[in-house]
Amino acid sequence: MKILLIGDIFGECGMNYVKYMLPEIVDRESIDMIIANAENASGGNGLSYADYDALIDLGVDVITMGNHTFGRKDILKIFTNENSVIRPINYPEGTPGKGSVIINRCSKRIGVINAMGRVNIMNIDCPFKACEKEIEAIKDQTDIIIVDFHADASSEKRAMGYFLDGKAACVFGTHTHVQTADECILPKGTAYISDLGMTGAAESVLGVKPDIIIERFMYSMPQKFDHADGKAKLCGAILTIDDVTNKAVKLERIAESE
Ligand SMILES: [Fe+2]
Ligand SMILES: [Fe+2]
Repeated sequence: MKILLIGDIFGECGMNYVKYMLPEIVDRESIDMIIANAENASGGNGLSYADYDALIDLGVDVITMGNHTFGRKDILKIFTNENSVIRPINYPEGTPGKGSVIINRCSKRIGVINAMGRVNIMNIDCPFKACEKEIEAIKDQTDIIIVDFHADASSEKRAMGYFLDGKAACVFGTHTHVQTADECILPKGTAYISDLGMTGAAESVLGVKPDIIIERFMYSMPQKFDHADGKAKLCGAILTIDDVTNKAVKLERIAESE
């Protein structure tokens, strides 16, 4: 079974390119399931109902979020028990939405967990304990568990990879918008990559026009984030799972561009 993992979709440029490229990738790579991070899909901040609808129409099976989960009010309408839009599980108890979902594909029960780091992001509950607890809760109802760890520090991400090695089929990172080249199968069998990268404008600083960010770094003045457009790229990875053992056999980075 092949699962396509798509890194942070950023703004209109990212959404348009996903719409354009997804059918081709699915067909070319014989993809069975799609997980996409959409915390920046709508205007770079949050997920609108229209973009949620568009991603579902395109065949995205599970949508994960991150520190921009509540960037738009639409998310409160989008979060239902029935759909597969999840937000970091380690938000404090009582936060709207859910942190994991179980779906059926290719006669397998696939659990997807979204968690968020605490280094340079948000002071929330411990992601390690939250993932450990959730895996314990769903392991008997699932054949395959996949974790999107939305975090900034590569140290925190790699620590999570080793912490969950052997407990999840795959741990992939999102949030930095820059793809890492450390994809591997960890010693106990978990496929791991620190960050899938971003799906959006190729000539940008994490999706935003470079001039704006340069100005911000140089003068520390507040700036309106104008989103870059032009040439787009789609970053992510393809996870191959063995149909018999339910373990990861391969994790391949992809970076498609115009
Ligand atoms: Fe992001
Ligand atoms: Fe993020």
